[in-house]
Amino acid sequence: MTRITVLGSANMDLVVRQPRRPEPGETIFGTEFSTGPGGKGLNQAVAAARAGADVVFVAAVGDDGFGVRLRGRLDDDGIDTSLLRTVEAATGIAQISVTEDGENTIVVVPGANAVADLTDDERTAISASSHLVVQLERPAALLTEAMRHARGAGVTTVLTPAPVQSDLDELLALTDVLIPNEGEAVFLAQQDDAESAAIALSRTVPTVIVTLGSRGALVASGGEIICRVAPRRVEPVDTTGAGDTFVGVLVARLAAGDPLAVALDTATVAASLAVGRRGAAESMPYAAEIAAVVI
Ligand code: RIB
Repeated sequence: MTRITVLGSANMDLVVRQPRRPEPGETIFGTEFSTGPGGKGLNQAVAAARAGADVVFVAAVGDDGFGVRLRGRLDDDGIDTSLLRTVEAATGIAQISVTEDGENTIVVVPGANAVADLTDDERTAISASSHLVVQLERPAALLTEAMRHARGAGVTTVLTPAPVQSDLDELLALTDVLIPNEGEAVFLAQQDDAESAAIALSRTVPTVIVTLGSRGALVASGGEIICRVAPRRVEPVDTTGAGDTFVGVLVARLAAGDPLAVALDTATVAASLAVGRRGAAESMPYAAEIAAVVI
């Protein structure tokens, strides 16, 4: 079975490009404003679908213009939106500041993403998948329930612990593949560096993949580092959604049967392509673009 269920957030990204971050109380001029589809869940769903996966997206948007636009993006990418609920709340938004070095800071207002119940249809979708992919922009209790259901059904669970938070022991115990960035890994493991954190986390989670941005990634399992992933050189334009691209493509390739090392390389190429473009979901590459680099 190769269907992937992504349970996560859908946000409209409100993006300002600016020369630097203002000091408290200071006003500065930005250079550009744009809106675009985002949310860690939507981004990972889009990345996986563009990489060739069959994806169902379990999420919620508001009954508003942003919700209509997000649904349109998902439909255009061939993602199953039959479990995308429209609820009586505003669609989630993310206020994103991107500086000239391509780095971002993000503030999320969850809105409709706060919907916290898991329906029977959603359980059925999870059971019918090879992988359940979640992040932390939906309520923790919902994620725990979904992960527990997936475990019971023999579905591989994949967690991106972002935005990182404490008290994740229950979720981590239900996770098969954990994909934190360096800061998230260090925070979760309470260690000083990415390598020690990966080793420590892999004593609880079977596979831990720590993304290191321009330094690639490292993989730990059973309390040891088992693989280091070389980075791809890229001039950063906008790093927003790069981690989500990595996760979506990695899971798509694993679901298609690729060995972990091959899937990691493909995901790294995809993330480097996304970093070279503006936007979150809009920056994600299609399978042919990724293949053109890999080959
Ligand atoms: O990971 C990037 C995403 O984080 C953005 O698209 C934004 O919506 C926030 O969820």
